[in-house]
Amino acid sequence: MHAAAPARPSKLSIIGAGGVGVAIAYAALIRGSADIVALHDLDGPKVDAEVLDLAHGTQFLASKRVEGGTDPRVMAGSDVVVITAGAKQQPGEPRLALAHRNAEIVKAVLPGIREHAPEAIVVLVTNPCDVLTVVAQREGGLDPARVLASGTVLDSSRLRWLLSELVRVDARSVHALMIGEHGDSEFPLWSRAKIGPVLVREWEQESGERFTDADLDGIADDVVHAAYRIIEGKGATSSAIGVSTARIVEAILRDERAVLPVSSVLDGQHGLSGIALSLPTVVGRGGIERVLEVPMDDGELRRLHASAETIAATLRSVGG
Ligand code: 2OP
Repeated sequence: MHAAAPARPSKLSIIGAGGVGVAIAYAALIRGSADIVALHDLDGPKVDAEVLDLAHGTQFLASKRVEGGTDPRVMAGSDVVVITAGAKQQPGEPRLALAHRNAEIVKAVLPGIREHAPEAIVVLVTNPCDVLTVVAQREGGLDPARVLASGTVLDSSRLRWLLSELVRVDARSVHALMIGEHGDSEFPLWSRAKIGPVLVREWEQESGERFTDADLDGIADDVVHAAYRIIEGKGATSSAIGVSTARIVEAILRDERAVLPVSSVLDGQHGLSGIALSLPTVVGRGGIERVLEVPMDDGELRRLHASAETIAATLRSVGG
């Protein structure tokens, strides 16, 4: 009997060694999201220092190896490439304001991915991630199933955490999604949101009261403004986008077919095409395995279309 050939180690590359790129690397290494994690940045001293700082913890990490540098060849053999490079929001600045600057940066990194990691699934984290997903897909000539954005995975995690704190139930037992733009026009899919098997709208609090529309609007508002609050306080968000993105990478590399609200270029779902936004999506080794068309109420459908129009307008402004 022949022993099975050892599986090829899985590899994640991250472009951009700023706060977000390093947080994703750190989360992925601790969670063991990929066997090898490579960090690529044009700033040599910075990327070398970050790689060394991470590598010094190797003994305590779940992944096998961290490497990186300024040469795009560090991405060779990647199964997933995450793009984080780009300008970040200043306090009070919406994500969409970054579109022009960051579209150029995304266009600049695509040739390196095409040359050195042509087989990789590409995950956009750079904002505005929905707009940049379309830019990357078109400019890079990528299969739309193989390019996606972290989208509202983080926002949904914020929503689940907020609800879990309010109702005092584990966040993993809260099933609720933010959908649409990863930005100001996103909204919660309240008609489907549940705590355990109970619809959020029917959930009785310990006082016996149900959430009012004003309560739910307040929670949604907190989620939409969460990043602004963090940017005011510490200049940027990093830790939660780190773990959220590591989770997406795992769903891909382990072919989990997990349902996650990632963003991808739509092809007729809810009457939308040619733009990217977040909807519950089956994520596996092929990237986007299937975008689910969840039944929504009329108000939610209107908001989804308004969110799509916001993204489409920004896409047009960058020539998309
Ligand atoms: C976030 O939502 C700023 O997009 C980043 O944390």
